[in-house]
Amino acid sequence: MSLDILLKDLWSDYISIAPIAKEIHDILLEQGEEINNDHIAFRTFSSKGMGIEEMEVFFSAFGYARKGDYSFSEKKLNAIHLEHQSDATYPKIFLSELRYKELSARAQEIIEREITKVKDLSISELFKKKDVFSISSSEYRELLDESEYGAWLCALGFRANHFTILVNTLKKFNNLNELNDLLISKGISLNRAGGLIKGNPDVYLEQSSTMASRIEVKFTDKSETVPSCYYEFALRYSLSSGELYQGFVTNSADKIFESTNDELAK
Ligand code: NI
Repeated sequence: MSLDILLKDLWSDYISIAPIAKEIHDILLEQGEEINNDHIAFRTFSSKGMGIEEMEVFFSAFGYARKGDYSFSEKKLNAIHLEHQSDATYPKIFLSELRYKELSARAQEIIEREITKVKDLSISELFKKKDVFSISSSEYRELLDESEYGAWLCALGFRANHFTILVNTLKKFNNLNELNDLLISKGISLNRAGGLIKGNPDVYLEQSSTMASRIEVKFTDKSETVPSCYYEFALRYSLSSGELYQGFVTNSADKIFESTNDELAK
């Protein structure tokens, strides 16, 4: 499979469960914009066979290499970002993993059981099968109490968590405020955790995001509507070298993760 096909497949799966992204994509196309992706983000568990290091190996076959390491202590996450080695127009890949062994014994038991079910699948097969986990609606809520991230991953599985528009390459928007204002005027709900815009020119990166779309997920006992995926917007600033900063800012990303938090949307 070529990288172009992989990205196309990830995008079509993503907009099938995140209609908000398709809606915004169409709004911007109508304005005559050409849309470029800054990064695509994925979630996984810190476990042999499916952790970020194995995912890094999967993406390295498509020309990617690791450029940054991050840790989110409160959310119990490790993360890395990858950049394409020969073509900078390809989106960066942001991979995070939940250190689920730091959760309660009960949460560990649920997650461990689910991981065991898919332990023989390769990363490629996990992406192909996507929603590989099967938990009950009450287990979903148990996980939600401790880790919204873990609950999301068990409900939605291996797919893009979000795509991110590189605002620098939009023609009609000079800053994030202008884009946010347009989206708000179209009735789109944005993530306000830590303010509408996370980051500032001093950290060379500003980000905002929508709240996640909601979709029906089949749990083992019944179907329920839960948050799926959101769309993110990134504006990057130049370093003193003149090159655009390509990394991520932990404090900002920490708040962006909360775009799949159901409580914030209410
Ligand atoms: Ni992101």
